[in-house]
Amino acid sequence: MTVALVTGTAGFIGFHLAQALLRAGIPVTGFDGMTDYYDVALKRHRHDILGNFPGFTRHEAMLEDQEALAAAFEQAKPDVVVHLAAQAGVRYSLENPRAYLDANLVGSFNLLELARTAEVKHLLVASTSSVYGGNDVMPFTESQPTHQPLTLYAATKLSVEAMGHAQAHAWDQPMTMLRFFTVYGPWGRPDMALFKFVRATLAGEPIDVYGNGQMARDFTYVDDTVRAVMLLIERGAPTLGEPGVSPTAPFRVVNVGHGAPVQLLDFVAEIERNLGRKAERRYLPRQVGDVACTHADASLLETLTGFRPRVEVAEGIAAFVDWYRNYYSV
Ligand SMILES: NC(=O)c1ccc[n+]([C@@H]2O[C@H](COP(=O)([O-])OP(=O)(O)OC[C@H]3O[C@@H](n4cnc5c(N)ncnc54)[C@H](O)[C@@H]3O)[C@@H](O)[C@H]2O)c1
Repeated sequence: MTVALVTGTAGFIGFHLAQALLRAGIPVTGFDGMTDYYDVALKRHRHDILGNFPGFTRHEAMLEDQEALAAAFEQAKPDVVVHLAAQAGVRYSLENPRAYLDANLVGSFNLLELARTAEVKHLLVASTSSVYGGNDVMPFTESQPTHQPLTLYAATKLSVEAMGHAQAHAWDQPMTMLRFFTVYGPWGRPDMALFKFVRATLAGEPIDVYGNGQMARDFTYVDDTVRAVMLLIERGAPTLGEPGVSPTAPFRVVNVGHGAPVQLLDFVAEIERNLGRKAERRYLPRQVGDVACTHADASLLETLTGFRPRVEVAEGIAAFVDWYRNYYSV
């Protein structure tokens, strides 16, 4: 690979992935709309750090702005595109559903069109474990039915998978859908549990524990996530007949998850251990769209790359807490 275009580079995963690509000597064109879904200063800081690499070029614009996106493609002439920019978050889709339609459907459509006309050799697109909805057959395998999403977020991500498959079939365009499972780590997202729990506990404020703590998530450390994506890029575009590839298109879906769900209360206990203080827990019922458990079957990822995510939460939470204390001087 010579050049990558990555969308969502001011975001959590995109920032880490862009760094890994740049460190591997691969020039990166980053594209991000710097949306105010969470602290824009954190996004600016991430982009500024990437700006220190000579191989990084940034475009700060919305996916919905087709001309701006086309300009990024024109400048980069990428052979690989990793599309991570999206309106993320399960719960916010109840509050502001239109943001999901604009970013995830219209925005992703614009991106797919440009990737097609630019004849990108391999397009990798962020999807989510949320597409498994209320499935209770664990672990989740890529071939499990996913037609009954529980949130609009999941519905838009499933739609992107479906649009991608149609395009891969019609235009013979190679594509990989990355189903991420609760990614966490330094420079993480302020709307996610780990960030919120650490912030509140250090501030002496209560934490909201949904589902009365009776939930489990397949927490996946960000370095593992990035390593998996790098290896999938290295492996190259899917071709018919390979493991996990659709019978009708050069298209595959890959779970990128640790494969070891952790109970929410154990997660909280690990945070407390790291902070050296107790969190005041406010137990609340499960929210609409929350699922009881997520659990990745990561065997396809392992077959394709020889790699399985391996960082345990004890190590990952410690790294996050170190970063958080340093970054916010607390
Ligand atoms: N973090 C997780 O646990 C997780 C889990 C499953 C899936 N994902 C998916 O992975 C991808 C990256 O997630 P993340 O955690 O880094 O999220 P993030 O919110 O930190 O990053 C997304 C970035 O996209 C940008 N963006 C949003 N809408 C945009 C638009 N319309 N135009 C241009 N830029 C826009 C934002 O400014 C942000 O910087 C997303 O597609 C998300 O849905 C993340």
